[in-house]
Amino acid sequence: MNKSLGSISRVSFRDEHPDLGDGRAEILAGLQLSQKSVNPKWFYDQRGSELFDKITRLPEYYPTRTESMILKQNRESIARICGDESVFIEPGSGSSEKVRILLDALRPAVYVPVDISADFLRLSAETLGEEYPWLDVFAVCADFNAGWNFLNELPSARRVVFYPGSTIGNLDPTLAQTFLRTVATVAGSEGGILIGVDTHKSSDRLHAAYNDSAGVTAEFNLNVLRRLNALLNANFDESAFSHRAFYNEDLRRIEMHLVSDVDQQVSCGGMTIDFVGGETIHTECSYKYSPADFTALAKSAGLDVIESWQDEEALFSVHYLRSAG
Ligand code: SAH
Ligand code: AVI
Repeated sequence: MNKSLGSISRVSFRDEHPDLGDGRAEILAGLQLSQKSVNPKWFYDQRGSELFDKITRLPEYYPTRTESMILKQNRESIARICGDESVFIEPGSGSSEKVRILLDALRPAVYVPVDISADFLRLSAETLGEEYPWLDVFAVCADFNAGWNFLNELPSARRVVFYPGSTIGNLDPTLAQTFLRTVATVAGSEGGILIGVDTHKSSDRLHAAYNDSAGVTAEFNLNVLRRLNALLNANFDESAFSHRAFYNEDLRRIEMHLVSDVDQQVSCGGMTIDFVGGETIHTECSYKYSPADFTALAKSAGLDVIESWQDEEALFSVHYLRSAG
């Protein structure tokens, strides 16, 4: 389905959201594992996307403002390496805030925001189209780990994949490698990948970023239970679970969990899920990479790091990757 968005002729929206039936089966399977888990993509309904946006403005959450600063300070060299008139594809585009830093310098042929959060994506694309009347926006609601069926609808120009925010960190290393292989194919030998990666650092700084004093990250984490209630006709009680986030130094990842405060039974998708007090649902990993670790990951996916940019404190990194060929 390719719908034009009313009066904004340069913005279109394509709905390739995966089948919710498959999603329900996947969630139920995750809740039956010995370590219960839910894929972090389920965080992002309208409320989840709004809460993430709130997180990006928290004083403790340094990644967004640091990456935005790196993009601003290096806008010209980034634009040079990406080239103009590209098909500029952003998987996990959220509010499309960061692309605004680059658009005037990049002048892409078309911008393709891809996100699982349909209504939020539609609104973000519409707003962007209003702000940049010269820009063609082809928004796609899809799971970026599932399918890139929309590619043949796009103009046949060089493709650059923009993957900021360290969203790569939310994929386990094996999935991250698969994802990078996929985007390497999407970019081909002519294009490239501009990617933002959060760096391994002191656990105090990381702990604070995922345990903000205003409790927004906790709200974001707990919101997944509302999502499960709506999707699976479940009866999770948010007040009977607590947010927990910590840096697992050995695996170099933040782990977010929801801790069951008591022994309880939850009815979910026609099943009963038992919790003992203290048991958790693992809701998210956020892997952190040193530049060397990330270079090795990229290499394992057949990609070379062509150029990298960092802030002075080395809190965050941005890399331009190209197929090793
Ligand atoms: N790129 C933005 C937003 C990052 S937040 C930034 O840098 O600030 C991660 C985004 O990825 C969210 O908007 C979320 O809805 C989206 N997302 C998460 N998992 C996804 C998936 N499997 N497929 C598509 N989008 C996904
Ligand atoms: C989207 N993603 C990269 C964020 C992160 O930092 O892993 C999501 C997030 N989770 C808690 N705070 C922010």
